[in-house]
Amino acid sequence: MSSFDLSDEILKKLPKHFHFGTAAAAYQVEGAVNEGGRGPSIWDIFSSTPGKTRNGDTGAISVDHYHRFTEDFVLMRELNIKHYRFSIAWSRLFPMGSGLINQQGVDFYNRLLDSMLENGITPMATLYHWDLPQALQDLGGWENRDTVYRFQEYADAAFRAFGDRVKNWITHNEPWCVSVLGNLTGEHAPGFHDAQKALTVAHHVLLSHGLAVQTYRGLNQDGQIGITLNLTPVYAQTPGSDDDKAVVINDVFSNRWFLDPIFKAQYPKEMTQIIGELKNAISIDDLATIAQPIDFLGVNYYQPLVVRYDENAAPFYTENVTPQDRVTSMGWPISGDGLRDLLLRLQKDYGTCPFYITENGAAYSDQLEQGHVHDDERVHYLSDHVLAIAEAREQGVDVRGYYVWSFIDNFEWAWGYDQRFGIVYCDYATLQRYPKDSAWWYAKHISRHQNLHMY
Ligand code: FCB
Repeated sequence: MSSFDLSDEILKKLPKHFHFGTAAAAYQVEGAVNEGGRGPSIWDIFSSTPGKTRNGDTGAISVDHYHRFTEDFVLMRELNIKHYRFSIAWSRLFPMGSGLINQQGVDFYNRLLDSMLENGITPMATLYHWDLPQALQDLGGWENRDTVYRFQEYADAAFRAFGDRVKNWITHNEPWCVSVLGNLTGEHAPGFHDAQKALTVAHHVLLSHGLAVQTYRGLNQDGQIGITLNLTPVYAQTPGSDDDKAVVINDVFSNRWFLDPIFKAQYPKEMTQIIGELKNAISIDDLATIAQPIDFLGVNYYQPLVVRYDENAAPFYTENVTPQDRVTSMGWPISGDGLRDLLLRLQKDYGTCPFYITENGAAYSDQLEQGHVHDDERVHYLSDHVLAIAEAREQGVDVRGYYVWSFIDNFEWAWGYDQRFGIVYCDYATLQRYPKDSAWWYAKHISRHQNLHMY
């Protein structure tokens, strides 16, 4: 019994069919970037450009999941994990982004899915986890409205090829990161610094989401479809003061920019003051298309934000005063309560949509000691956040699952291999996998939860 164990009473608040899963993304784990007819994506180009990632790391090999997925699914099964969120690499199915489908890519995901199912693991598939085919970037990428229709074709092909086995689909992962990190701050591929591009990209990504949902409905498959947003609860340092103004601005930028169009068919008016007005990109029906009813919202939550108003700090008028007493090795402040508050707020402002926590987890500087990794801090983190979900459920929020980021250490984008998020350790020299203490903690809780709901 560790001090971070959750009681039976807490675990019983999570329903029988609650998904306890783990998550990953194609470019972060697959490797094998030149195999199976795969075309290059923007992340191949970006990560091999000097200065863009820590130590010049790329996803070329990563944890070699492409060749080792069977071993990984067997290990997942040993750890009682029955749900896995993965992403499909668009450029494996369409090396040039569109045109003829690459049968080798289809074969690969068929093998991957079959192996998952053989090991009793239910897939949740993300169509776009940031790896745009470079061929489409060469034509303007997400800034070009045509990319929206290429995505719709790709989505249609994926639904037809894999929809017999995949019953949970996510159109996009974190469009905020795609537009802001990719086009405003330049930290991610394709690496631009341009507010107008960021606005246009966000709009096109959202539009492609709406079109993919329509396409899915048209196929009449018996599954569910949603989108995953990265969301941040924002608190005022002193509620009832000017700090509340900073809360509104940050909430619009971090959350409502994407939530409002999806659930309310409108952009928050404050966006114009914050990063500018979206010019030319909107056509008359776009917002109605974006606001297609979805079956669930995927929520990625890592950290809260506490703000103080600063009148000299346009356009955000914010000083970040989030307590730093508990942070992960990314420097991200830790708060399980933040997840509970976020869920309650989503339910209040956006209605009773089912939610999945499609990512949550923490990076720490793990040490492998005689085949073991004693990652108490990660266990503590996971325990706090599962507890937060139980509390939100108790208050009526329909949270249906929790996917730890990540199953195994992997290529953490601009941070390369510097940050380890896995509950399984990867020795990058040998590619050997070692479940960390957090993986055994998770396994034990999944089995206890299952036993509690046996009858
Ligand atoms: C999220 C990404 C995921 C991973 C985690 C740590 O923003 O969706 O791929 O990098 O952060």
